[in-house]
Amino acid sequence: MQFELAVLPGDGVGPEVTTEAIKVLQAVSKRFNHRFNLHYGLVGGVAIDQEGTALSPDTLKMCRDSDAVLLGAVGGPKWDDPQAKVHPEDGLLALRKGLGLFANLRPVKVSPVLVDSTNLKPEVIRGVDFIFVRELTGGLYFARPKRRWQTSRGRRATDSMTYSEQEIERIVRVGFELARGRRKKLTSVDKANVLESSRLWRQVAMEVARKYPDVELDHMLVDACAMRLIQNPTYFDVLVTENMFGDILTDEASMLAGSMGMLPSASLAGVPQEGINIFGMYEPIHGSAPRRAGLDMANPIAIILSIAMMLRYSFGLAKEAKTVEAAVDEVLSQSYRTYDIMGDGKTKVGTKQMGDLIAEKVEG
Ligand code: IPM
Ligand code: MG
Repeated sequence: MQFELAVLPGDGVGPEVTTEAIKVLQAVSKRFNHRFNLHYGLVGGVAIDQEGTALSPDTLKMCRDSDAVLLGAVGGPKWDDPQAKVHPEDGLLALRKGLGLFANLRPVKVSPVLVDSTNLKPEVIRGVDFIFVRELTGGLYFARPKRRWQTSRGRRATDSMTYSEQEIERIVRVGFELARGRRKKLTSVDKANVLESSRLWRQVAMEVARKYPDVELDHMLVDACAMRLIQNPTYFDVLVTENMFGDILTDEASMLAGSMGMLPSASLAGVPQEGINIFGMYEPIHGSAPRRAGLDMANPIAIILSIAMMLRYSFGLAKEAKTVEAAVDEVLSQSYRTYDIMGDGKTKVGTKQMGDLIAEKVEG
C-alpha cells in the first residue's frame, strides 16, 4: 500500500529522533512492501526563524493533504520570551485545531524490563498498562473568552472552560471504543463537585455509556485521580478527560514508565474503530530537550512507538505496528539503553544506534 506522510521534525532533539523514526518506517516499508511518501515541513521555532510564523498556511495544507503527520518536538529557550508575539507552541496548537485533532491518546505501559529503572517501587508499577484519552481542541486552551485587559484597578486576564455536549460526546466515545478493545473499563475524570462544565461532562458520559453496556464506566474527581495514579496505577485501563486536566495528569502518569523518552502519542481527528483509518498526528510525549540537542543522546523510542500508533490508527496496518513494538521490546531486553533509562550492567547507546538496532529487528 501507499501512504502520504507529512514530517515536521521541529526543534531541539526533534530532528534527531525524527530521523530514527523514519529509519524504522523505511524498515517497515522494506519488510512489508509498502510505500511511504514523505513531505517535509517546518513547525515551531525553526518555522518562526525561517518563515516568520510557527506554522505557515502552506505547511498546514501539506499536512491536510497527507494521510498522517509525524512531529518531532517544538520549543526552546531561544523563543521563550513571554513578551514575544509568537511562540513555537503556537504551531502545535494551530496543528491541533486546524486539523481537528480532538482526541489525544497517550498510552502508559511499564515495560517489564524497565520496572526497576523508575523512581517508584517496582511492586506499585509492575503491570501498569493504561491509556489516557485527552480532549485536545476545547476547554481552557481554546474556548472564548480568552483575553487580557486593563481595568482601573489593574490588569485582568481570563480563559474559559467551555464544552458543548457534542465535544464531550465524541471524546467520551473514543474512550469507550478503546476500552472495548482492552479490559473494558473506562474512568471519566472531572471536577463535577465544583465545575459546571464537569457536571455536563459527567452527564453526557453517563448517556453515552448506555450504548456501551459491555464497558464498565466510573467517574473520578481529578484531584483524587492524581493521587490514585501514584497510589494504585494498575487500577486504570482507559481514562478520558478534558484538555487541561489531561495535560497535567499525563505528565504525572508518564513518570510511571520511568522516562518521558518511552512514551508515544497520537492525536486523532475521529473515533478509532476496527477497520477505519483515521487522520492523525503522531509525536513523542517528551519535548524538545534543548540541552540534549545535537548530542546523539535523546531516546528515540517514544517517536518510534508513535510510528507504531500511526501504522495502527491511520494506516490500518496492525501487524506492522506490532512488529515495531516487538522490535523495541527485543532491543530493550537485550540490555541496550539510552542515557535516560540507563541502569547497572546495561549497554549505553546513543540516538542513532538505538534507531539502527530497532530498524534492524523490524527488517528481520
Ligand atoms: C503537551 C504539551 C503542550 C500542551 C504544550 C507544548 C502546548 O504540554 O502536549 O502536553 O500543553 O498541550
Ligand atoms: Mg503537557
